[in-house]
Amino acid sequence: MANTYPAMAIDVRTGRSKLGNLTGGLSGPAIKPITLTAGLEARKAVKIPVIGLGGVETAEDVLDYICVGASAVQVGTASFADPRASEAIIEGLGALVRTVKCNTYQRIKG
Ligand SMILES: Cc1cc2nc3c(=O)[nH]c(=O)nc-3n(C[C@H](O)[C@H](O)[C@H](O)COP(=O)(O)O)c2cc1C
Repeated sequence: MANTYPAMAIDVRTGRSKLGNLTGGLSGPAIKPITLTAGLEARKAVKIPVIGLGGVETAEDVLDYICVGASAVQVGTASFADPRASEAIIEGLGALVRTVKCNTYQRIKG
């Protein structure tokens, strides 16, 4: 949960879409608040594990998704900017978890 959201970008000089197709999919940090909400709704609606993705760039983003009930997260757009983004996120996660005084997955999730 979830994929991209339908979106457009217009070149005002030509009045045409900036995208190869007329519309495209919005991803990255802009969609995280929307997708967090969708993730929460999904978690309440199903009994199977929910994987959260949408705008995950930092360790804080990972905990956001875990807090709404995700069992795991994925990193999409951030990996295009930096193929090692996931490694940096994992490195930051250990320190962040100590800061928030949640040292087990279940406590964070709770
Ligand atoms: C360039 C690009 C290609 C994508 N291709 C697919 C795809 O083939 N199948 C799919 O299910 N999602 C695809 N997605 C959606 C991502 O898997 C992901 O759900 C979405 O981008 C939100 O995560 P993010 O904000 O971390 O990128 C693509 C996203 C991008 C940016």
